[in-house]
Amino acid sequence: MISLQNVEKVYQTTSIETVALDGINLEVQQGEFLSIMGPSGCGKSTLLNIMGLLDEPSAGDVILNGSKITGYSNKQLARFRNQNIGFIFQSYHLINDLKVIDNVELPLLYRNMSRKERYDLSVEALTKVGLKNRIDHFPNQLSGGQRQRVAIARAIVGKPTIILADEPTGNLDSRMGNEIMDILLKLNEEEGTTIVMVTHDESMALKTHRLARLFDGTWVEEKAFQH
Ligand SMILES: Nc1ncnc2c1ncn2[C@@H]1O[C@H](COP(=O)(O)OP(=O)(O)O)[C@@H](O)[C@H]1O
Ligand SMILES: [Mg+2]
Repeated sequence: MISLQNVEKVYQTTSIETVALDGINLEVQQGEFLSIMGPSGCGKSTLLNIMGLLDEPSAGDVILNGSKITGYSNKQLARFRNQNIGFIFQSYHLINDLKVIDNVELPLLYRNMSRKERYDLSVEALTKVGLKNRIDHFPNQLSGGQRQRVAIARAIVGKPTIILADEPTGNLDSRMGNEIMDILLKLNEEEGTTIVMVTHDESMALKTHRLARLFDGTWVEEKAFQH
C-alpha cells in the first residue's frame, strides 16, 4: 500500500546541508494504523510529506497503491494525491473565510461532480465526525477539537485509501485529543483506511497497530501491538 525504498532527503541552503532522511525503508500494509514518534527535528514531517507527495525525496522511491510515483509531473502528483490521500495537520489548516461545509467541500472541486453531489458527500463526512449541526459555522466559531474534526471531514470527504496525520492531537487537551483519536481509530476499523500518524503522545501510539521510532533521519525502534 505504502512503500518507501531507500528514501533520502537532503535540504540544501546556501551555508548548510541538512540530511533530514537517511535511507528510509518502510512498508505499510493496507488497513494498517502506523504511528511514528521521535524528537523534534528528526524528520517526521519530512517523511510524512514525502509519503503524501507534498515533497520529493532527494533519492529513493515512493510506491503508493502499487504505483511508482517517481517521475510523475506536478499535475499527475496533484491528481494522485487528491484521489488517494487525505492530510491532517496539527494546526488544522482550515480557511477561515469559508464556512465549515465549504472547507470540507474543497477537495471535491477538483473532481467532476455536481454541486449536489459535493454537498451530500460533505454532509456525510461532517456527520461521521459528529459536526452535522455546525455546517454553516465559520472555523473561528469552533473549538480546537471541532476545528480538527472539520479538518478530518475534509481529509475523508473524497474517500481516500490513505490518511496521513502530522501530530493531529498536538494542539488539543487530552479530552479533545482522545475524541480525535477515537475518530481515526473508527475510520481505520470500520472503513479500513490505512493511517500513518506522527505523534508525541505515547498513549495515542499505543492504540495503533505499530509504532516506529525515528531518530536523526533513521529508524531506531519498532514495536507491534495486539489489541
Ligand atoms: N524546507 C526546509 N529547508 C531546510 N531544512 C529543513 C526544511 N524542512 C525541514 N528541514 C530540516 O530537516 C530536519 C527535519 O525536519 P522535520 O521533518 O520538520 O522534523 P520533525 O517533523 O521530526 O520535527 C530538521 O533539521 C529541519 O530543520
Ligand atoms: Mg514535524
